[in-house]
Amino acid sequence: MIDSLKNKEQIKILFVCLGNICRSPAAEGMMKAVVACGGDESRWIIDSAGTGDYHIGDLPDYRMRAHAQRRGLNLTHHCRQVRESDFDNFDIIIAMDASNERNLRRIAPTPEAEDKIMQMSCWFDDSVTGYDYVPDPYYEGAEGFELVLDLLENACANMYKALSAK
Ligand code: 4NP
Repeated sequence: MIDSLKNKEQIKILFVCLGNICRSPAAEGMMKAVVACGGDESRWIIDSAGTGDYHIGDLPDYRMRAHAQRRGLNLTHHCRQVRESDFDNFDIIIAMDASNERNLRRIAPTPEAEDKIMQMSCWFDDSVTGYDYVPDPYYEGAEGFELVLDLLENACANMYKALSAK
């Protein structure tokens, strides 16, 4: 999948978590910042969504917004739920953890749609130890939100490098 994406004129990525108010909107904001830094925003379509419907229309959780702001990220996404058409509209659908991945596999309408699903941890490099998923920070303290941002920073940088390389 990675090789075919590298050659595409446009890459469309959807980040997915449960609530779409902590991890996936932070991943969206982080990836947009990485892409902006590389100067090729027109090549990338980046969005996020949740498998749950608890927070539709909401801005990201105030704690995630505050922690992201300290890294220069202004998170303005409004929560939405994953829909079947996302599997047509995006090239890769990136789950934050195994539970998100299972939920996505249930929603995927075809085997081809399922092939677009991967976990964010696929992009972690060897500097990440002890995690093969992005943990849900909702019931955690400040360190939980910082950990999520550290993991997303690592994954987004690696994803950008891998998909930009010609
Ligand atoms: P997220 O975190 O999946 O990273 O957005 C959560 C946010 C809200 C809830 C669960 C996880 N919730 O149960 O409301």
